[in-house]
Amino acid sequence: MNEAQTALTADRPTGHLHLGHYVGSLKNRLVLQGKHKCLIMIADVQALSDNFDNPQKVKENIKEVCKDYLAVGLNPDKCTIFVQSRVPELSELTMYYLNLVTLARLERNPTVKAELKQKDWEDSIPMGFLCYPISQAADITAFKATLIPVGEDQLPMIELSNEIVRRFNRLYNSDVLVESEAVLSDTKRLIGIDGKSKASKSLNNAIFLSDSEKNIKEKINNMYTDPNHIKITDPGTVEGNVVFAYLDAFFEDKQELVSLKKQYTKGGLGDSVLKSLLNDVLQALLKPIREKRESILDDDIEKILIDGSRAARNVSQNTLREVKEAIGL
Ligand code: TRP
Repeated sequence: MNEAQTALTADRPTGHLHLGHYVGSLKNRLVLQGKHKCLIMIADVQALSDNFDNPQKVKENIKEVCKDYLAVGLNPDKCTIFVQSRVPELSELTMYYLNLVTLARLERNPTVKAELKQKDWEDSIPMGFLCYPISQAADITAFKATLIPVGEDQLPMIELSNEIVRRFNRLYNSDVLVESEAVLSDTKRLIGIDGKSKASKSLNNAIFLSDSEKNIKEKINNMYTDPNHIKITDPGTVEGNVVFAYLDAFFEDKQELVSLKKQYTKGGLGDSVLKSLLNDVLQALLKPIREKRESILDDDIEKILIDGSRAARNVSQNTLREVKEAIGL
């Protein structure tokens, strides 16, 4: 990585951010914001692609997501925080990229496929939804971003974006667009507190950065452990045990964790001891975040988003001009 790189990432404003976002992406961004040119986009246009019937939800969460950013320590002096719908050049770029991708290619995207399975659209898939990966390529390329800190599920989007870049540059004999690469975190995917799938706001199985102390404790107490670990002396299973998955992600003392796992596997370590340890770890992490969050004013948020979106527009206007010139328009 050299100094000249640009990092870009984004979140859909459909709810508050949670610990999955924290380990999967936000933590990475905190490191990147000191080292690189950093852009962070609130993807309201993309959020609308499966919430077009609930724009109010998207609108309200723009502010909440921005608060989460500031609360974890993202700093508007070091990174540009902006709103996707306030940078219309992104939509215009999307129009040009639509020509470069086939329907079959879009239907092959594994992340989109998984999302489609969760909806009950059947034969009535909205085009906006199917095409959001193309608009995501516009998000990435408009800023010539090369580093994309995201979770594993976003790899297909970056792959498609790079295909569009190569296709565009070859077709129009240009070098305007640049390829990007994902920056994955160590914890690629945080399991939900129900142990079933990835932590997600839509499945309501996540611990949110804004959760109260009491709420966090309750969620930890309800975490799935090992159903066969009934007596403390019973041998327990670490694999698939949500409490251990969270300790893996958040407990710094890795040596101690190894010995806890050994003890648990052998028998003699109770779930309540582990849950209480996890509670201490998560409360210590989330308390300052929650307090900072509560101190942020709505007016400050709006100013940050106005300034950030203006700066983002300036950059994307240049790229759009170059793109149109390359095509010959
Ligand atoms: N698809 C991403 C998500 O669901 C959000 C996103 C939109 C994004 N545009 C982006 C991520 C550009 C990285 C780069 O989380």
